[in-house]
Amino acid sequence: MGIQKRLVGSYFVVICLTVLILEIILNVSVRYYYFHNIEETLMNQAELSASFFQQYFGDQDLEEQSDRLLKGFASHSDAQVQIINVEGRLLQDSNGLQGDLIMTEYIDVQAAIKGQPGSWKGADPNTEEAIYAVSYPLQANGNIVGGVRFITSLTETIHTVKQITVLLIGVGIIVIGIVTLLGLLLSWTITRSIKDLKQAADQMTEGDFSIRVHKRYQDELGSLADTLNMMASRISKSEQLKNDFIASVSHELRTPLTSIKGWAITLKASEVSNQPLFYDGLDIIESESDRLTHMVDELLDFSKLDNGRIAVHFTSVDLTELLQHIGRQLTPRATRQGISLDVKIEEHLPVIQADENRVKQVMINLIDNSLKFTGSSGRIFITAHTVPGKVVISVEDTGSGIAETDLENVRQKFYKGDQQASGSGLGLSISEQIIKLHHGELRISSTLGKGTIVQFDLPIE
Ligand SMILES: Nc1ncnc2c1ncn2[C@@H]1O[C@H](COP(=O)(O)OP(=O)(O)OP(=O)(O)O)[C@@H](O)[C@H]1O
Ligand SMILES: [Mg+2]
Repeated sequence: MGIQKRLVGSYFVVICLTVLILEIILNVSVRYYYFHNIEETLMNQAELSASFFQQYFGDQDLEEQSDRLLKGFASHSDAQVQIINVEGRLLQDSNGLQGDLIMTEYIDVQAAIKGQPGSWKGADPNTEEAIYAVSYPLQANGNIVGGVRFITSLTETIHTVKQITVLLIGVGIIVIGIVTLLGLLLSWTITRSIKDLKQAADQMTEGDFSIRVHKRYQDELGSLADTLNMMASRISKSEQLKNDFIASVSHELRTPLTSIKGWAITLKASEVSNQPLFYDGLDIIESESDRLTHMVDELLDFSKLDNGRIAVHFTSVDLTELLQHIGRQLTPRATRQGISLDVKIEEHLPVIQADENRVKQVMINLIDNSLKFTGSSGRIFITAHTVPGKVVISVEDTGSGIAETDLENVRQKFYKGDQQASGSGLGLSISEQIIKLHHGELRISSTLGKGTIVQFDLPIE
């Protein structure tokens, strides 16, 4: 069953039950109010009449005075009044009922001649009308001499109560109708958003990540739509990156391979005696093979890091020694490019626990970037200093800098600021992962055209 049906269904059941319970309570209250009112009025009148009799007629004969009494009692009431003697025989009736009627069949009369007030509800023997009767004992000198009976028709009251009931049922039906409509509307707004989401998700399953969900409301479903859209755009982006990467890796692999193959052909065709040419060619083949090996290593490394399959082996590392060694190693390349490479290290750097080869790899990645993106007569500074709890190492250059739009993406795998530039876009991503494995942090700040600073910390303990 669909969400809409379930929602509206439960809504409907709840509201019907509520309305039903309310209607029953209201109906019972209305009935009680009307009938109780009548009973009370009649009882009051009867009681009043009885006390009036006791006070003024107590020492006279009931049967003789019944005519006068009736007139007195009836003049204060709209109800039908009857006077009954102690045997239950009807003496007087304000409606003119005649004949020696014995009234003991009515329980209210039975009660009255025994000395208790009583009431009775039933059908009038002549008119079949619903009536209500109240009897009250008449006392004289402590003896019961008869009773007074007040009778009223219930027809009008029953009619009124019926009308109120019909009105209540009408209102109830209208309420149920309105609430059901509202429920339908509400569930429609929910299911509409869900349907949108489902449709978009289906299309994404088919591989179409260009689809975006229309966000209808600022609610949980709206934020789910945002999440889905974000997910789709991330997936598209990483698809794009993957394609760019494959293109750039193929390109990167092709260049050294072309050169190796070219030299192999040249050497094959050349005279064996041409020694200098041979050495040049073999040199190039060697360096190009190194480049290939390096690239393949980087890729393997990356996939291992990405899967979390790489482990770091901590040993005591003398950072001063390490950084100076790297500086010496890369100075020839910097000099070739006309770039100055300065290593400025604070004295007495502590010995830290780290994976030496991995830290070296990070440094080489960072310096390689600086060398790649800095023109001749540029400068590169490698610095290291301690702050409480950690060593901060930074590589700063006066190169091209990184555009602000690229800055947040450069750590992503395969991301290159310039697709034409050499490299696979993995250097920073790998470096960041390695630093994370050392519980440190890698930060990049850069100004386009001015230069770049890449900084990372390594905890001292
Ligand atoms: N020092 C820098 N100056 C200017 N741009 C930089 C610098 N370092 C990184 N970038 C930008 O960040 C991008 C990503 O760098 P990253 O080191 O991850 O990849 P890469 O150098 O392109 O390739 P790889 O390091 O795998 O050979 C670079 O393509 C470049 O656009
Ligand atoms: Mg790089």
